Amino acid sequence: MVKFMYSQIQLFILLLGLFAAGILSLKANDDRKVYIVYMGSISEEHVVTSEYHIDILQQVLEGSTAEESLVRSYKRSFNGFAARLTEKESKNLNSKKEVVSVFPSKTLQLQTTRSWDFLGLVESDVIPRNLTTESNVILGAFDTGVWPESPSFSDDGFGPPPKKWKGACKGGNDFKCNNKVIGASTTFDSARDDNGHGSHTASTAAGRHVDHANFYGLAEGIARGAVPSARIAVYKVCGGESCSDSDILTAFDEAIADGVDLITISIGSTNAISLYEDSIAIGAYHAAQKGILTVNSAGNSGNTSSSVASVAPWLFSVAAASSDRRIRDKVVLGNGKTLLGYSINPLKSEKGLFPLVFGVGSSQCSKESIRNCSSGCLDEEFVKGKIVVCDNSYDSVIDEALRAGALGVLSRVAIEFAQFYPLPAIRLEPNEFEELLSYLNSTKNPKANILKSFSFNDTSAPYVIYFSSRGPNIIASDILKPDITAPGVEIIAAFSPLASLSSLDDTGGNEMSANFSILSGTSMSCPHVAGASVYLKSLHPDWSPSAIKSALMTTACPMSPSKNQDAEFAYGSGHLDPVKAANPGLVYETLEDEYLTFFCKLGLSKDQIALITGNKSFSCPENSTRNQSSLPNDVNYPSLSAMVDVGTPFNVKFSRTVTNVGVANSTYTVKVESPKEVMVTVKPSTLSFTSLNEKKSFDVTVVGKGLSKGPSSIISASLVWSDGQHSVRSPIVIYSNSFAL
Ligand SMILES: *[C@@H]1O[C@H](CO)[C@@H](O)[C@H](O)[C@H]1NC(C)=O
Ligand SMILES: *[C@@H]1O[C@H](CO)[C@@H](O)[C@H](O)[C@H]1NC(C)=O
Ligand SMILES: *[C@@H]1O[C@H](CO)[C@@H](O)[C@H](O)[C@H]1NC(C)=O
Ligand SMILES: *[C@@H]1O[C@H](CO)[C@@H](O)[C@H](O)[C@H]1NC(C)=O
Ligand SMILES: *[C@@H]1O[C@H](CO)[C@@H](O)[C@H](O)[C@H]1NC(C)=O
Ligand SMILES: *[C@@H]1O[C@H](CO)[C@@H](O)[C@H](O)[C@H]1NC(C)=O
Ligand SMILES: *[C@@H]1O[C@H](CO)[C@@H](O)[C@H](O)[C@H]1NC(C)=O
Ligand SMILES: *[C@@H]1O[C@H](CO)[C@@H](O)[C@H](O)[C@H]1NC(C)=O
Repeated sequence: MVKFMYSQIQLFILLLGLFAAGILSLKANDDRKVYIVYMGSISEEHVVTSEYHIDILQQVLEGSTAEESLVRSYKRSFNGFAARLTEKESKNLNSKKEVVSVFPSKTLQLQTTRSWDFLGLVESDVIPRNLTTESNVILGAFDTGVWPESPSFSDDGFGPPPKKWKGACKGGNDFKCNNKVIGASTTFDSARDDNGHGSHTASTAAGRHVDHANFYGLAEGIARGAVPSARIAVYKVCGGESCSDSDILTAFDEAIADGVDLITISIGSTNAISLYEDSIAIGAYHAAQKGILTVNSAGNSGNTSSSVASVAPWLFSVAAASSDRRIRDKVVLGNGKTLLGYSINPLKSEKGLFPLVFGVGSSQCSKESIRNCSSGCLDEEFVKGKIVVCDNSYDSVIDEALRAGALGVLSRVAIEFAQFYPLPAIRLEPNEFEELLSYLNSTKNPKANILKSFSFNDTSAPYVIYFSSRGPNIIASDILKPDITAPGVEIIAAFSPLASLSSLDDTGGNEMSANFSILSGTSMSCPHVAGASVYLKSLHPDWSPSAIKSALMTTACPMSPSKNQDAEFAYGSGHLDPVKAANPGLVYETLEDEYLTFFCKLGLSKDQIALITGNKSFSCPENSTRNQSSLPNDVNYPSLSAMVDVGTPFNVKFSRTVTNVGVANSTYTVKVESPKEVMVTVKPSTLSFTSLNEKKSFDVTVVGKGLSKGPSSIISASLVWSDGQHSVRSPIVIYSNSFAL
């Protein structure tokens, strides 16, 4: 407090000085940007109001009124607000004792069905289902809204919303809810989806069964979510492709109070940030306090070390893998050869062959720029009505070819999955592209035709796709992320007929629209795990968020480091298996107290922890400051991970507790699989239960010589508790702090 007053006085003096020197004009508004002011939990004895936020704002504002400055007030589920502030005002707010953190509101990205059969959640009587309990589960979908008239969101045969639902239909313009889409909320004009992403993700998780869904005849089949009877509450937090922290926090504030059971959010930043400046981590923490699990895409930042952005232990972070139904396309050359490439080209091409052009273009451009179709280098005179070859892997060649009136484009692959383009276009792997070049070289009159795409059975599935973000977790090194893997490549699901079918949408000229579309991303894998979580919630309505997450993680199908570079840092516990997860035997439940110690390790102060958690009596245990070598994680997590010093022998101990949710009288014995570099011991090695919900604890010790530098410094082992019926598996990952070197 004293420190705060002192700094105010100092500031005042400084300001006077600046005014006197004529440096500071009153144009302060131009320097303002939106900041999030996060103030933690709402204690039961206090009601938080906008007036309270205005009051706090007024104490720091200089040259603006609080009413002008306040953008959002978070007061239903947690405490905080968003306001337009100068940097100085934001610093002054940050030093207030009521405030946990102040950070600029960032823009986050969208992380852009056959798949449920692939996952074994088939539509049959063999799978236990209960339509009554399924229709009681409410999924909060934070995204670009939905297209409410899509058959995936039809409420045919649905009863009224469950009684526990406290939300409303506030979807704005031209948006009606029904008994399937029971609520909507948005800070935009309408919760109607004009992007397609939100309809896609919501229907993947909980859409209804739709026969003959297809994309212009491609990938035809049944589109459905995991739990078609579940309800959906729509929170539109993104306009276009951009989603702000301030709107995401509004959605959490509302959804938690509205009474959703789970949240799915296929949105994230491109890299991990401190948890108290991460809107998704903050919102999801308060959701978890109320028993709501938040499922989040791991990110599409790709296969470089530590690219995973979803890192909080209470988030369920999902990586993306291929599934067995893949899409490819072919180009036929004038010499009869066929090249195979990546494209979603649903339209049947005209018969015959069309002229191919390569390396002819504007005289303003170098030969090389013409060959790689640099912007402005193709010339309509040479290209119009022809298929152009671009020695380039960039998306920008599509725009350039369209501008010049090309019939189609053959270019190099940048992405190992198929996408729709506003004109027929195929991306070729290097060897196929070489073959194309040598054909061009072999004739004066090259010709080609781009065929309609086809789907095929990829028996090598699943493997983690290259764009899926990787661990290790740079914020909390002993929490393994991502947690789990699910299908996220070439997924067909509901779409918005208003949306552009291609992310390259400034090109004009393409009027196609669709009710179903094929997309790839961890955005697509996230709602698969959300749907599986809804399924578990319908079977076990009393399970905590951590129990649901544990069930899905410990029953995930193990994946192999030989097929997946980066091992657990790519796939976490493995590939989603919703049917096994329904009956996991044991679960690792995380108690709220463990998060308190976790916050200590992150370096938060006692006061910050008290604000965030609402627990005022807690103090950090001694020597709980961050020290990786002495303190592997205290969170009762379903995976075990620790970072150790490079080149130094280690002896890492994990303590864990499991809860019996299988058979009352049961005995589990442990089985460890580990490489010879480490010795893993588990004590005790047998756990006997005599009742349901009984808890038993055990310790795992991992001893090894020092790890070397580089990617080989990851040790993957596993531990499985088995009673003969259930198999409860946790990966054990030890890695060195030089991993990224
Ligand atoms: C479904 O669950 C409800 C509520 O738990 C129960 O009353 C009902 O008997 C169940 N129905 C079936 C078919 O299992
Ligand atoms: C692909 O082949 C496998 C094995 O033969 C089969 O189980 C699976 O159903 C097939 N998938 C598709 C999409 O046809
Ligand atoms: C295309 O070629 C030009 C050289 O003329 C080069 O500067 C540019 O980087 C190339 N673009 C790509 C994407 O390879
Ligand atoms: C094209 O032909 C020329 C001469 O015949 C040769 O030097 C060149 O390597 C060939 N290029 C390709 C890509 O085959
Ligand atoms: C990432 O994946 C791409 C495509 O599979 C591969 O070519 C590249 O070597 C990988 N990068 C790293 C750092 O592993
Ligand atoms: C999308 O659905 C609407 C309404 O059912 C229908 O009129 C329209 O033709 C469909 N569009 C496409 C491209 O199939
Ligand atoms: C961390 O703890 C270990 C074991 O107690 C100790 O040897 C080491 O010095 C500590 N490191 C730091 C940075 O405090
Ligand atoms: C579990 O075993 C104990 C004795 O070992 C027995 O008394 C009890 O009835 C059994 N409980 C169940 C649910 O079978």
